[in-house]
Amino acid sequence: ARVEKAGYKHFMAKEIAEQPVVLGDALAHYLPGDTVNLPETLDFSGLERLTLVACGTAFYACSVAKYWFETLAGLPCEIDVASEFRYREPPIPAKSFALFVSQSGETADTLAALRYCREKVAKTVAVVNVATSSIAREADVALPILAGVEVGVASTKAFTCQLLVLATLALKAGRDRGHLSAEAFAAHVAGLRSLPGLMNAALAGDGPVAALAERLAEAQDILFLGRGPMFPLALEGALKLKEISYIHAEGYASGELKHGPIALIDRSVPVIVLAPHDRLFDKTVSNMQEVMARHGQVLLISDAKGLAAAAEGVWATLKMPEVPEPFAPILYALPAQLLAYHTAVAKGTDVDQPRNLAKSVTVE
Ligand code: G6P
Repeated sequence: ARVEKAGYKHFMAKEIAEQPVVLGDALAHYLPGDTVNLPETLDFSGLERLTLVACGTAFYACSVAKYWFETLAGLPCEIDVASEFRYREPPIPAKSFALFVSQSGETADTLAALRYCREKVAKTVAVVNVATSSIAREADVALPILAGVEVGVASTKAFTCQLLVLATLALKAGRDRGHLSAEAFAAHVAGLRSLPGLMNAALAGDGPVAALAERLAEAQDILFLGRGPMFPLALEGALKLKEISYIHAEGYASGELKHGPIALIDRSVPVIVLAPHDRLFDKTVSNMQEVMARHGQVLLISDAKGLAAAAEGVWATLKMPEVPEPFAPILYALPAQLLAYHTAVAKGTDVDQPRNLAKSVTVE
């Protein structure tokens, strides 16, 4: 069936708006009752390592997932972009799984990385949107993310659905490895189930985002800061923005700010701080204050508690619903996508077909 814009101005806007529904579909599939619906053969107990490989936005999904596999399952993780991984001849323990994340399932470097791992690891696992793709066919286990066709070159709904599948895998790994109690597992499942509702709330008013984007559209450089699993989300936010608005943007781990990027800060630099009120919040806020002391224009994205504690003196805020701690990146992806989208619209760029980029990179 032909995919239409369904009244939206761009596919990207439609795909952002679809996320509560498609994430709900993925949840219904992977977490139908009180257990996870994943192949029994995907047993994480006894593994020494998990290797996660991908490109672009899918790589940032892997980068978030590393935090989950480590904290929820106590499983050491290696992550890399496929173009580096395939050529550096990485030694890989036999007692390991290698996991490849790809929206298209056709990215040449990711496919090559999968082929490199096939004889070396206990299992190769593909997390893909296109279930009939090369990467899905060649992996031992293929898990569809169920996002539906994604047309916009800048990936949005595929990213959040990738995160959902990876979170589900991390929860299974946590149970398989005896790292998560039944109670903790159930609490995390409930946390994931709350996400479509929270996404609806987060999408309800994107008016404020559009107004902020008018200002962002004038910037030369924009920084995104985050800590813990919000650090890779900062990288993804910067990628989204540069892909479609052509504004130079960088994501940084908040704690690294003082090791370089703080030299860039002056009145003309917007700094977008992704900071749910979690156990790292105070640390992120102290980095944010270093930015403000140098007159950087802070946009603080946080929940009611976070804004009450730290919004004084910032340029702008975006209020998010409270979200169960380890899964905040799935929700905070939405304002990052919307900021990129509205900034590109304000600049008048070709949102769905940005210059020089392809939806799927099937040659090296
Ligand atoms: C291209 C697209 C990105 C995507 C990346 C990986 O660069 O423009 O949006 O994240 O490829 O694609 P894949 O299909 O492997 O997820």
